[in-house]
Amino acid sequence: MPVPPAQSAATRGPRHVAIIMDGNGRWATMRGRPRIFGHHAGARRVREIVEACPDYGVDYLTVFAFSTENWKRTQAEVAGLMSLFRGYIRREARALLANDVRVRFIGDRVRLDAKLVGLMDELEALTQQCQTTHLTVALNYGGRDEVARATRRLAEDVARGHLRPEDVNEETLPRYLDTCVLPDPDLVIRTSGEARISNFLLWQSAYAEYEFVDTLWPDFTRAEFGRLLASYARRDRRFGGVKVAAAGGAVAR
Ligand code: FPP
Repeated sequence: MPVPPAQSAATRGPRHVAIIMDGNGRWATMRGRPRIFGHHAGARRVREIVEACPDYGVDYLTVFAFSTENWKRTQAEVAGLMSLFRGYIRREARALLANDVRVRFIGDRVRLDAKLVGLMDELEALTQQCQTTHLTVALNYGGRDEVARATRRLAEDVARGHLRPEDVNEETLPRYLDTCVLPDPDLVIRTSGEARISNFLLWQSAYAEYEFVDTLWPDFTRAEFGRLLASYARRDRRFGGVKVAAAGGAVAR
């Protein structure tokens, strides 16, 4: 009997979705409001999408909240975003715990203010037993910066004699990445019509599928999320190999 689309999406849908949440500034400007207004609207969407994950069979959600390049924005916007992140953690902690969401942060914490880092640590500790959804927030994150920091730690281990140079390979290097406990993303979504990955999860997304949609992030709904997951479920991922036929035989593609 044919599998209905909703069920097929749930059984073959992505386990880990990563999102580049773009378009907050334009969304606010179109309404004659300051850019930070768009970021606040974007934060409300984060909650909606996190809460949709269990219904769609998504176990891991990673969102790009602030990049290593975003410090180039005006001082007012950067300060507004940092204040938004602090407020988000304080306000959402209870709901995240109630929804069994385990929160992790990736990125370099060195440049973030101590109060924010303290709240991040507290939220990670508070939710560390949660299992339903794994939410990872990339904050002061850049893929190249992550690989450079990982390489530095790896080199230190080699210098101390904890790792032999001949053991540095595709298995050992990712253990030094911020994402070492996460599976690689299956699907990367970017909103707002831009088709680039902007230094997001460079190593981890080597075999990810991509969806670039025109919707500005504050307009991105749970329904659109569901449509993208269903579309992913219809894709044929081969990881550079061959398609395996239903009967078990390999079909060269
Ligand atoms: C990109 O839009 C968005 C950001 C740099 C910030 C993303 C932050 C949020 C969605 C806020 C909440 C997040 C969490 C996890 C609490 P843009 O400002 O570059 O938009 P534009 O391209 O239209 O200017």
